[in-house]
Amino acid sequence: MKLSRKSHCKINLLLNVVGQSDDGFHELEMLMLPVPIFDRLDFELANSGIGLTCNQPGIPTDSGNLAWRAAESFASKAGITDGVRIHLEKTIQAEGGLGGGSGNAAATLLALNELHGQALGQATLHELAAELGSDVPFFLQSQTAVARGRGEMIEPVAPLAALDGKSLLLVRPGFGVPTPWAYQALAKFPEAKSRPPGQADELARRLANGTLTEAADAFYNSLEAPVFNKFPLLKLMREHALANGAEAALMCGSGSTIFAICPDAATAESLNRATESAFGQQSLVQTASLPGDFPKVKSTTASP
Ligand code: C5P
Repeated sequence: MKLSRKSHCKINLLLNVVGQSDDGFHELEMLMLPVPIFDRLDFELANSGIGLTCNQPGIPTDSGNLAWRAAESFASKAGITDGVRIHLEKTIQAEGGLGGGSGNAAATLLALNELHGQALGQATLHELAAELGSDVPFFLQSQTAVARGRGEMIEPVAPLAALDGKSLLLVRPGFGVPTPWAYQALAKFPEAKSRPPGQADELARRLANGTLTEAADAFYNSLEAPVFNKFPLLKLMREHALANGAEAALMCGSGSTIFAICPDAATAESLNRATESAFGQQSLVQTASLPGDFPKVKSTTASP
C-alpha cells in the first residue's frame, strides 16, 4: 500500500507568551496561519522497521526526524508490527520557525492512520501529536486557528478576509534559530512576557472584519525580543520590509524567517529585490498567494 501527502507550513501572526508552567514550557496564545508552501511525503508499507529517505542532505533520517518519531509512536500506540518506508521531499527550510518538521509529523500520523484503516481515533492522534511537539496538533488540520496552552489546544477561527489576495514573502537568512534557545533566552526579557492574554482573538477578529493596514500594529511575537537582541540583522530585515511595501511583517515563530505580507505579487517581488540588494542573497526566499488552497483530505494518491 502506498500513499502520498503534502505537508504545509505556517506563520504566527501573533505569538504571545502569557505564562510558564512547572515543566518549563511556556504558556502561549498564538494566531497561526497555514501557508501554502509544501513538503511531500511518500509512504509505502513494508514488512518491518521504519525507513526514511530525504532529498535534502543534512536532514536527519533517523529518530532525529519528527516524521520518523511520528511513525514510531503511531505503530506503538496502534500495536502495529508492520514497517513503513517514507520518502520526504523537503521544500520548507529547517530551523526557520515555519513548523516544517511538525507538519511532516502530523502528515505521517494521518497517512499511517489511513493506511491502517483509521486504527486510531482523532483524540488519540491529537494526543500523539502533542507528545511529538507543541506545533504538531495544529498541522492535523489546515485551518487558521488560535492555539493555546503549549500550542496544542487548537481553535479554528473565521477566515481572515483582510489577507485575501495578499502575497506573502518569506526571507530566511543563512542561519537558523534553535527553538529551545529562543525560549530560554526569553527569561532575560520580562517585558516580552507582560502582555495580557486575549490578543490572538482580538487580532483574528480585526483581520476577519477590517483591513490589514488597520490591524498591522497588533501583529506581535514575544520571541522577537531575545532573538533580535542576538541577531540584530533580523530586526533590520523586518523594518526594511515595512519600509519597502509590506503591510505587515514579523518574525516567524522562534525565527529565523521573517515574513512580509504585501498587497500584491508585484510588491512582494520588488520587496524581494530590495531585500537582496540591501542584505545580499538569502538562503531561502519563498512567496505564496494567500489564503492558499489546502485539500480537506490531504491524501493525494492512494493505491493498493
Ligand atoms: O514542543 P517542541 O518540541 O516544539 O518545543 C521545543 C522547545 O521549545 C521545548 O523544549 C521548550 O524548550 C520550548 N518551548 C517552550 N514552550 C512552548 C513550546 C516550546 O518553552 N510552549
